[in-house]
Amino acid sequence: MQIKHKVMVAAFAVGTAASMPAAAQFQKPADAIKYRQSAFTVMGNHVSRIGAMVQNRVPFDAATALANAEIVATLSKLPYAGFVEGTAEGTKAKPAIWSQRAKFDAAASTMQDNAAKLSVAAKTGDLAQIRTAFGALGASCKACHDDFRE
Ligand code: HEC
Repeated sequence: MQIKHKVMVAAFAVGTAASMPAAAQFQKPADAIKYRQSAFTVMGNHVSRIGAMVQNRVPFDAATALANAEIVATLSKLPYAGFVEGTAEGTKAKPAIWSQRAKFDAAASTMQDNAAKLSVAAKTGDLAQIRTAFGALGASCKACHDDFRE
């Protein structure tokens, strides 16, 4: 009973943190900026590792592709909490992110869906399916960068 109670309290704490406004998760604006840029950097690195296989620059290895696709699917959820209001200056984030927030969020959500689809494709171990899903993911990165990144 005691243990069960502790688990429930912990689960509640996690749920609360996830539903807090993004701003409350960072001590200062610079922390939010560093967080989103770091998340994009690490995610981009793992995207590139799959890209190298898709473009035949390194030999295809199904297990490596899957491991990277799963990392990308997880990391794709992270950067957007860092787009706290008033953090465009000195970064490549365009002010349009905040004036067209719904459009930005939709672009983020499309990219997350495509990352999830890439990991489904990677589970098949079939390079042709991975290549198609990778192409769709790349297009969704580019679409947002075209509109919202300097
Ligand atoms: C919904 C919009 C959006 C999507 C989708 C998106 N990005 Fe970005 N990305 C941005 C913005 C905005 C910045 C600039 C952030 C800044 O300067 O603070 C950025 C920055 C980056 C950076 C540079 C990070 C740094 O500052 O060093 C990389 C790398 C990157 N994105 C990779 C990707 C990849 C790979 C994808 C797709 C898998 C992707 N992005 C999808 C909006 C997006």
